[in-house]
Amino acid sequence: MADQIATERAKMPAAHNPVLERRTVENANQNLLKFLRPGIHVLDVGCGSGAITRSIHEKVGATGFVLGIDPNPNLIDQARQNAPDHAGLAFEQGDVYTFDTAERFDVVTCSRTLQWLAQPKEALLNMKRFVKPGGFLSILDFNHEKLSWTPEPPMSMRLFYDAFLAWRKDAGFDNAIADHLDGLMRQIGFQSIQVEPQFEISRRGNADFAVTSRLWAEVAELRGPQLVKAGYITEEQRLQAISEYDNWIQTDGESMTVYLLAVEAQQT
Ligand SMILES: C[S@@+](CC[C@H](N)C(=O)[O-])C[C@H]1O[C@@H](n2cnc3c(N)ncnc32)[C@H](O)[C@@H]1O
Repeated sequence: MADQIATERAKMPAAHNPVLERRTVENANQNLLKFLRPGIHVLDVGCGSGAITRSIHEKVGATGFVLGIDPNPNLIDQARQNAPDHAGLAFEQGDVYTFDTAERFDVVTCSRTLQWLAQPKEALLNMKRFVKPGGFLSILDFNHEKLSWTPEPPMSMRLFYDAFLAWRKDAGFDNAIADHLDGLMRQIGFQSIQVEPQFEISRRGNADFAVTSRLWAEVAELRGPQLVKAGYITEEQRLQAISEYDNWIQTDGESMTVYLLAVEAQQT
């Protein structure tokens, strides 16, 4: 039952997802840049609609290979449609807990996905198997409890955000997963672990402030209906959060800092 709730809540709605689609290695997974070079093989776990995966593919070039896996068939369809027809880039429907392959990769990357898993240690253990000796496991994830806004957003958005965290916690997801990754990586046998802050800071004055700070209105648009259905907020509260937050962006909003850490280790 608990597993069923987690799987249901982790499921990304079928609609086009602008948040996933505007991501690239440069703007959303910069920690990977130090690993990516022509010819290497990369596994991208929880690849969504494949935007970051395509960007990884550009870096590893025609001699490299990138495989993106995701359990959501809609996202895998979108990823295939958006991908150039190229032998070095593939997408497969697959779940991090059960995925298997004989291939071993130079880099196994998993960004913003462990936040949606009730058993992150099991997921890490499975991913570790696919890293070549000398290769790297690279995880990027959030601590949602450390998100900050200046000034405080409208109460309606606070209410939505708190409900979002409660809805996630009740499904067994760790809202502070970023700060627990170092310990989890140690528990699965890695010894030398690098932790790098990858905070995403949206500031008024940046050309893209209106787009990047809108993340939580987009979450309320995309994920909000799931919270309404599960009884965590009402539809009126969801719509109020979106419109008042959009108004905050246009008027008082100065900045938003999303807390993300990259946690990486080398396979011996
Ligand atoms: C927030 S998206 C991240 C997409 C992309 N990695 C990024 O950083 O933009 C989380 C992804 O995790 C996927 N996911 C959820 N449960 C999963 C599981 N058990 N195994 C693998 N991926 C999973 C979802 O389908 C979704 O595409």
